[in-house]
Amino acid sequence: PLITSKELFKKAYEGNYAIGAFNVNNMEIIQGIVEAAKEERSPLILQVSAGARKYANPIYLKKLVEAAIEDSNLPIVLHLDHGEDFEICKQCIDDGFTSVMIDASHYEFEKNIEITKKVVEYAHNKGVVVEAELGRLAGVEDAVNVSEKDATYTVPEQAAEFVEKTGVDSLAIAIGTSHGAYKFKGEPSLDFERLKQIQKLLPNFPLVLHGASTVLPEFVSLCNKYGGNIPGAQGVPEEMIRQAAQLGVCKVNIDTDLRLAMTAAIRKDLIDNPSNFDPRKYLGAGRTAIKEMVQHKIKNVLGSNNAI
Ligand code: G3H
Ligand code: 13P
Ligand code: ZN
Repeated sequence: PLITSKELFKKAYEGNYAIGAFNVNNMEIIQGIVEAAKEERSPLILQVSAGARKYANPIYLKKLVEAAIEDSNLPIVLHLDHGEDFEICKQCIDDGFTSVMIDASHYEFEKNIEITKKVVEYAHNKGVVVEAELGRLAGVEDAVNVSEKDATYTVPEQAAEFVEKTGVDSLAIAIGTSHGAYKFKGEPSLDFERLKQIQKLLPNFPLVLHGASTVLPEFVSLCNKYGGNIPGAQGVPEEMIRQAAQLGVCKVNIDTDLRLAMTAAIRKDLIDNPSNFDPRKYLGAGRTAIKEMVQHKIKNVLGSNNAI
């Protein structure tokens, strides 16, 4: 069934595991993720960005996710990723999403509260849950100094005040992750002390980690071997994701790892089969790569296997 994340997060928090929130924009990506979750008996969050809605046309994504639920019988949350204003959140809520993110993190604290509160009010009235964000995800960073951290990372006391004032259901925090395939120039590091502080001030409250792809070296190498050019790509080590899941992080956002797995497999399939021109062949290879990668994450990193 199509569900909200309320109960999922409660169980994940208590069980010290996390639910994967995977970005989707076409049929093969959805099928690969859902097949993996089905085999692992894991709940899922499928999330759609504004860009994905524009690419696929919202109705196609909605219907594909409905098909996935009907076919798999899995508990699935349909979530808006990085909603930039009240309007897009409202649209998705009215379209039947069960969860939306309002990302007003680039505004001042008070303005972020005001916008988030408005979305929460509208969403809760319709039984929809809301994720907000406080703090700014880093750009590519090496050794961020203390004053830079205080300017961009989530301030624990503010996080507590923000949750109290907005009534939001989950909160995305900034502790050193960033979007995309180039997360760290030097050694990967996240501010776990800050995460502990946030958890201490917000006990039993689900936190969200954006920019949480591992940028699996296996797929980066495959891309580069088969004609790609993505040198120096680096993500969040799997051990750090496991650690975050012990500290109140219940939702782990993954997009880049899906893109890399699919692209690596398609690049390889096209080079290995030069006479093929049937898209089902290489898109099928992409779908299989996504399935195997997601299954690995669910079972070995997030720990949401056998949770239904
Ligand atoms: O947070 C960003 C996600 O990776 C979605 O990316 O806006 O290119 O669809 P997108
Ligand atoms: P990645 O780029 O690390 O996959 O992060 C995705 C994300 O946070 C989507 O909101
Ligand atoms: Zn994000």
